[in-house]
Formats: sequence, C-alpha cells, structure tokens
Amino acid sequence: MRKLAAGNWKMNGSAAALAEVKALIAAHPATSCDMLLCPPATLVARMAEVATGSALSVGGQDCHAQGSGAHTGDISAQMLVDAGASHVILGHSERRADHLETDALVQAKTIAAQAAGLTAIVCVGETEAQRDAGKTLAVIGGQLDGSLPPDMNRPDALVIAYEPVWAIGTGRTPTLDEVAEVHAHIRAAVINRYGAAAQGMRLLYGGSVKASNAAAIFALPNVDGALVGGASLKAADFAPIVAALTQA
Ligand code: 13P
Repeated sequence: MRKLAAGNWKMNGSAAALAEVKALIAAHPATSCDMLLCPPATLVARMAEVATGSALSVGGQDCHAQGSGAHTGDISAQMLVDAGASHVILGHSERRADHLETDALVQAKTIAAQAAGLTAIVCVGETEAQRDAGKTLAVIGGQLDGSLPPDMNRPDALVIAYEPVWAIGTGRTPTLDEVAEVHAHIRAAVINRYGAAAQGMRLLYGGSVKASNAAAIFALPNVDGALVGGASLKAADFAPIVAALTQA
C-alpha cells in the first residue's frame, strides 16, 4: 500500500502561500508515498494548477452531500473535482463541533464524494472527557459505524484519519501504545465491515504531528500516514514529515 502524507490547511492560506507549495514540490519531486494538501476552497484550483505534473495531490476540506442546488455557501464534490481536487476531508472534528455535523451527514457526504470520484478521508476521534471516561474505543466504533459508507468501493477510495480531539493543535499526542491500540481497533472494524480487502485501506493518525514525532508514529502497525494541520502550512515543516513517511 502507498502511504499518505496529507496536510489540512484549515482556514489558513492565501495566494502568497502557493510559494510554500512550490517549495514542497521542489523538496519532493517524486516520492514513494502519496503527498496531499487540502487548502481552503478558495485555493483548491490555484493549488491544483501549481501541482500539475508533480507528486502532490490536492483536496478539499468538506463537501455538500448534494451535487448542486440551493445551498448558499456550500460546494459539492463535483465542484471539487472540477477545481482539480482528488480527495476531500470529511467529518473533521472542527466541522462536527462548529457545524454540528452528525455521523449520518458525514456518511452522506462520503457517499457523494466517492460517487464524484474523490477519495474520502473520514475523520474520527474522541474528546479528552471521553478518553478519561475510558470510552475511546466505543466512541471511535460508533463514529465508524455511523460515518462510513455501506460500500468501501476501492480500498484506496476511502481513508480513515484518527484524530483525538484533544491532540489537535495542542502539542499533545497519545502515547505510541494508545495510537497503536486505536489503529488496531479501526483496522478490525473496517475488515469486519468490508472484508479482507480493507487490509489495504489507509489509516492516518492526526493531532500534533511534527517532524520530531513523525518517524515514531509512522513505525507503528496500522499507521499508514498522517493528517497534519499546523505543520503542513510551511514546506520546511511538512517536507521532513513526508521524508519520514518515505523511510517508514
Ligand atoms: P494539528 O496537526 O495542527 O494538530 O492538526 C491536526 C488536524 O486537525 C489535521 O486535520
């Protein structure tokens, strides 16, 4: 399986930030892993243009479950494809919290994204209170049950990102054993749901990944890459994470 180093720019970046994309492409003209950046919607088309012919793919951070219609402010999966995207992040904890996205809505978006030809990166993760209450695996299991599509389609058309909410943007991470435990649980859940082919589905870890902790996380079983926030904004921070994944 090709591993995936994915960056989520969140609500950051303007045209000037495309210089970082050029620097990243120059640092990794060809890689043995897949490299993806998901900028704000305003930059998808321009970033895709910069990335043409390079090792970098471009994705969105959300899409609507419908293909078109009266949904002011939203964009559809087809529109992301039209802008040059190949992936879309769905069900990020910030969207679940800020926009009250439910598992059922995330599932509907995932189905729409795959139907449009996008690879869906579905995010799951527990809050600190849920972890402290010993509910981590149950919470993740429930999110997977409710958010994943009934069919996997190709194993490479669906990616799961495990992002503990309390580790996002905090500099804190679970222990390596805790990451391995959750990833093993997710692997078992997707094999149970989709069959043995889900062995080939990529499971990403996200939450305060940086160059200094990437190699240890990537060495864990069932960790097939990362979804990186803050450290994906600058090529100088993201390129070493991509390098660590190519060596994992
Ligand atoms: P940070 O890497 O900034 O913790 O963000 C992780 C994340 O939410 C990626 O989607």
